[in-house]
Parts: sequence; C-alpha cells; structure tokens
Amino acid sequence: MARSFLSIMDVSHEELEYLLREAERIKNNNAPSKVLKGKVLAALFLKPSTRTRVSFEVAVRRLGGDLIFLRGDELQLARGEPLKDTARVLGRYVDGIIARVYRHEDLKILAEYSEVPVINALSDREHPCQALADMLTIKEKLGRLKGVTLAFVGDGNNVCHSLLLACSMLGVNIRVATPEGYEPAKEIVETALAVAPPKTEIQVLNSPEEAVKGADVVYTDVFVSMGDEAEADERLSVFLPRFQVNKKLLSLAKPGAIVMHCLPAHRGEEITEDVLEGKCSVVWDQAENRLPVQKALLSFLYG
Ligand code: CP
Ligand code: NVA
Repeated sequence: MARSFLSIMDVSHEELEYLLREAERIKNNNAPSKVLKGKVLAALFLKPSTRTRVSFEVAVRRLGGDLIFLRGDELQLARGEPLKDTARVLGRYVDGIIARVYRHEDLKILAEYSEVPVINALSDREHPCQALADMLTIKEKLGRLKGVTLAFVGDGNNVCHSLLLACSMLGVNIRVATPEGYEPAKEIVETALAVAPPKTEIQVLNSPEEAVKGADVVYTDVFVSMGDEAEADERLSVFLPRFQVNKKLLSLAKPGAIVMHCLPAHRGEEITEDVLEGKCSVVWDQAENRLPVQKALLSFLYG
C-alpha cells in the first residue's frame, strides 16, 4: 500500500526529526523543488478549514503539483455514495488525497480503497500535520526540543493526541490538563509512554495549575471541536473558567514561556484576548509553520 500519513506514529523517530530538519531547510532556503511536477492531489474536506486547506494548496502548487479541492457536500458522498467507493474512484484519478474527516476510521478506508497516499488533515483522533508545525515552532523559539516542558490545557482530543505522540517521540515533556471525562484516549497515552525516551515526563492531570507550573510552552485548543457543537453549552460550563489560558494561569509558567494555539481561537473561551495578542504568544508564527512542514511532508512522501 502507498505510504500514508494518518498519524504521527506513521513516521519513525528518525523520520520525524528528518521532517523537521527539512522543514527548517525549506523555510530558510526556499529552493524551488518541483517534486510534485505532473502530480494531481485531491483535498477532500468534510469540515471547514483555513490554515490546513490554504497551506496545503500553496504547498502543492509551490512544489509543482496541482490540487483539486473537494467539498464533501458537493460529492455524491452527500447523496449516500459510500466512502470506499469514492476512495476507489479517486484513486484512479489522483496521486494522493489530503483528507479532513470526522471519523479517523474514514481515513483508513480512504487509504485502503484508494491505494494512493492519504494525508490526515484532521480527524477526530489526530491532527499530525499540526503537531509537525508545533514541533518546528518550539524548536525555532526555544532552540531545542528535548527537555522542553509543554503544558496542554483543554480538551484531550485530536490536537492533544498528536502533540502527545510528537512530544513523546522527540523527548519533549508533556503535561496534559483536562477536566474529568475529557482526558486523552488511553491508547494514545500508552503509546506516548512506550515511545518516549527515558526521563521524558508524560502526565495526564485534571489540574491546569499543576500542568502549567514551570512549563516552557503553554498550549491550548478550542473547547468545542468541529463535530462537538451539540455539546457546546455543556462543554463550556465544564471547561470554564478553570481551563482558560489567561494571565493568571500563564503567570505560573516559566518566565519567558511561549503560548501556542493551533487556531482558530475563541477569545474569552479557551484563551483570553490579552494572552493571545500578548508578547508570549507565538500563534501566527506557528500557523506560518504549517506551510514548510507540509512541503517537507509532501517531498518526503513523493520524493
Ligand atoms: N489549525 C488548523 O488546522 O486550522 P484550520 O482548521 O483553519 O485548518
Ligand atoms: N480540536 C479542533 C482543532 C481545529 C484545528 C477541532 O477538531 O475542531
């Protein structure tokens, strides 16, 4: 089967480090590689996107390829054509599929039936391209990864899962703080523990204060992910006010700590306006880094 990137676990530790080095190289020396010349990729997005969609479209074009953007509601999928049939047909036309789906299982169906590389552009389970950009951002801002301590405060779902896996592979200490019942999946935590180098701290807590204390990086994500809208009121009442990244919580972090957010941000919910716009925030550089890491990923898969 063609090589896909559905999870951080789809690359080895060495490959992950290679991708980050390549991304840095691409960012600093934008040598015009045309690795995708003659290739046409499909971007199948079942949910909205700004960063992932645009950065992939730009990356594919800059690498000499072409991309067809497909909205789920405009395909026969919307009229009940099974995903596996859609995948089989797409695989006959295109050289790869970048997919944003609700169910992670659907990425596996796409990969199995299309027989072309599939890239996870976000599922309910993971957001591995985001984690690549996050690791590059930490490396750039703090000068290293190993031994850095990241506190993730919020919902233990997709973004948190990919961070847990990427951090543990690279020796970044990670403390996750979620309300009870919103912890990351047990299997992800077990995998993180299994791949982490000795002495890497991996903790799942229910106390944001404990997680943030002395941390180098404070990271948050929305409390209501795409697909969770029906639970919005309940979630906001569970997460707020305690799990909000605000000045008070941030004051517990290490002096000079950076604040990260995958975006889009909901000011006044998971993060306050002053923190998001404040001097510790690196969110725009973090968003910028989606482009070089995805160029590196595409070059790796198609090179
Ligand atoms: N962070 C991220 O994936 O943003 P989009 O939903 O805009 O793609
Ligand atoms: N956890 C968020 C991430 C968006 C980029 C969501 O799934 O909606």
